[in-house]
Amino acid sequence: MGFFDFLTEKIAVDLGTTNTLITHKGKIAIDAPSIIAVNRISGKIIAVGKEASAMRGKIHKNIKTFYPLRNGVIANFDLSEKMLKILIKKLSDLSNAIFIKSYKMIIAIPCGITKVEMRAVKESARRLNAKKVYLISEPMAAAIGAGIDVLQPKGHMIIDIGGGTTEIAVITLGGIISGQSVKIAGNVFNDDISQYVREKHNLHIGENTAEDIKIKIGSAIDTLVSPPEKIPVQGRDMLTGKPKQVYITYKEIARSLDKSISQIENSVLDTLSNIPPEISADIYKTGIFLTGGGSLLRGLDKRFSRVTELPVYKGEKPLEVVVKGSEMVLKNLNKYTSVLIHND
Ligand SMILES: Nc1ncnc2c1ncn2[C@@H]1O[C@H](COP(=O)(O)OP(=O)(O)OP(=O)(O)O)[C@@H](O)[C@H]1O
Ligand SMILES: [Mg+2]
Repeated sequence: MGFFDFLTEKIAVDLGTTNTLITHKGKIAIDAPSIIAVNRISGKIIAVGKEASAMRGKIHKNIKTFYPLRNGVIANFDLSEKMLKILIKKLSDLSNAIFIKSYKMIIAIPCGITKVEMRAVKESARRLNAKKVYLISEPMAAAIGAGIDVLQPKGHMIIDIGGGTTEIAVITLGGIISGQSVKIAGNVFNDDISQYVREKHNLHIGENTAEDIKIKIGSAIDTLVSPPEKIPVQGRDMLTGKPKQVYITYKEIARSLDKSISQIENSVLDTLSNIPPEISADIYKTGIFLTGGGSLLRGLDKRFSRVTELPVYKGEKPLEVVVKGSEMVLKNLNKYTSVLIHND
């Protein structure tokens, strides 16, 4: 341990499309929506995280809210960095830091990110005082966070359904031997719901309302054993322009999501058909591990299980596994060197 190492904090970051989580001293210290609100004229940042999220859809023309990581990629590096900077600042406020500390940081990134983007993420982190930056792919971190022993010579399949991307990965011996990053996940589900409500009920709803419907009655199948009740949904009548309310059932939502879920299923089947037979034999036994916020959609495990004829497991706290796994890697760097992304 170097003399100044006591000034170096270890932090793990899951820079997600929808949520950013940061651990500090082994605990999740920040769990915030990945949103930033900016004054368009002055460029000044008004809010990040929960405060910015509450402004969504209700702001005037001078203030705009951004998801800097829209659709699984870092759409706006400058704003991502600013958002992360404010969240990390909150972290040092929380820990009452007297000194400006440097960080040893691990960041979980989507599989589909390019080398140029990886470099940009690392540079961003260095500008935020990170002395050392490690990168790990999201599904690898998810597997470790879920308690899977990824270093064993045994195949495992992970499906992480986030907000922007669904990451499908087959892992063995600490590496991803096959995988896909599909841009169909929670955000697309919300769009599907909005489109359905618009077309079938002539009702224009906002993003927050679509998300609310998904959480309250969202389902991947229309044969749930204990189905949620129909719910009232308010928005703007497309024909009259007046505020209106309609009732929506979970079966309607299952119908509206069917096409997107089928596309994810096709990618899963495609990945399964391209792995070595020994790994197929392993996965026949180990099954599929389903995680990410999107895995909370009712009946999704059943649907995947039906189409793949494999057991599908859902873990606890699916929104936290990526950051927890990243943190475990950072704590045991010697053990986990092979799982890190080495891009330089
Ligand atoms: N109960 C629920 N039912 C269905 N979807 C949910 C539920 N709770 C959260 N979600 C969805 O999960 C998604 C967020 O999951 P998560 O935090 O894993 O994504 P992320 O890591 O930010 O995104 P990505 O991994 O794509 O970068 C959102 O689209 C959210 O709507
Ligand atoms: Mg994620």
